[in-house]
Amino acid sequence: MKVTKAVIPAAGLGTRFLPVTKAMPKEMLPIIDTPAIHYVVKEAIDSGLDDIIIITGRGKRAVEDYFDESPELEMHLRSSKKDDLLHLVSDIASMANIHYIRQKSPKGLPDAILAAEKHIGAEPFAVLLGDDIIVSQTPCTTQLLQVFDKYQSSVIAVQDVPREKIDRYGAVTATRVPDPSHELYLVDHIVEKPRPQEAPSTLAAIGRYIFTPEMLEAMKHTKPGVNNELQIADSLNILSKSQKVYACAFKGRRYDVGDKLGYVQAIIDFALEKPELRDGILSHMKTR
Ligand code: G1P
Repeated sequence: MKVTKAVIPAAGLGTRFLPVTKAMPKEMLPIIDTPAIHYVVKEAIDSGLDDIIIITGRGKRAVEDYFDESPELEMHLRSSKKDDLLHLVSDIASMANIHYIRQKSPKGLPDAILAAEKHIGAEPFAVLLGDDIIVSQTPCTTQLLQVFDKYQSSVIAVQDVPREKIDRYGAVTATRVPDPSHELYLVDHIVEKPRPQEAPSTLAAIGRYIFTPEMLEAMKHTKPGVNNELQIADSLNILSKSQKVYACAFKGRRYDVGDKLGYVQAIIDFALEKPELRDGILSHMKTR
């Protein structure tokens, strides 16, 4: 089985970033000048997944506009000879073959992903959540695909987090599996957003997954869980009863841009990587 499809759920209400998300999708929050979702789509493309499905909902038109052509803007940039900007803008529109499917009301990630069921068909597929931006030499999704290619089983990205933060994640109980190329685990159970003192582990599920097609069936049998929403963790617990599910502790630096602190950290780090901003940021920090 070969993975070619990536599903990117982007239908959430973005309540953690109100009030700005009242009038703009949280996926469009900029890391300086580039919306968060751009990095996620780019990771899928860099991992060879050129069939991308973005699950949207009401109020998400800006996401579609962003990846579309913008003839007036391009004409203006062409006539004012701003070639660099022209290429920057037109390259985004030709990045990938993106399909949009609307989720009618936010009922949780499995429900959002199931909206793409017909498009996914009977193939394995990747899921990338927009709240996680991962900077790494080998894209995180590529690392998971390497595991999938070898074991032909579902695989999720995990990272050890401080115990006081595990209540934001799916906490994964798993057994280490020897593998020459990856820090790999066999998943036993996942508990969604446990209280820190009750968490079975500090191994957190991060928003990158490769699923076998049977995960769609597991999602259909999932009952509402934490926050009365359908949860990927609960679907994975169903799937792992009949198939192996692996967890890969990926290599890379992750930013939780769905969290205000993580979002600001991403902006600072990305700014420090830009030569035209680096010195200004560092000298500003010294005055604080
Ligand atoms: C989702 C998943 C959770 C996972 C997290 C990673 O939670 O439900 O299991 O650990 O993404 O970012 P959310 O951040 O949507 O609440």
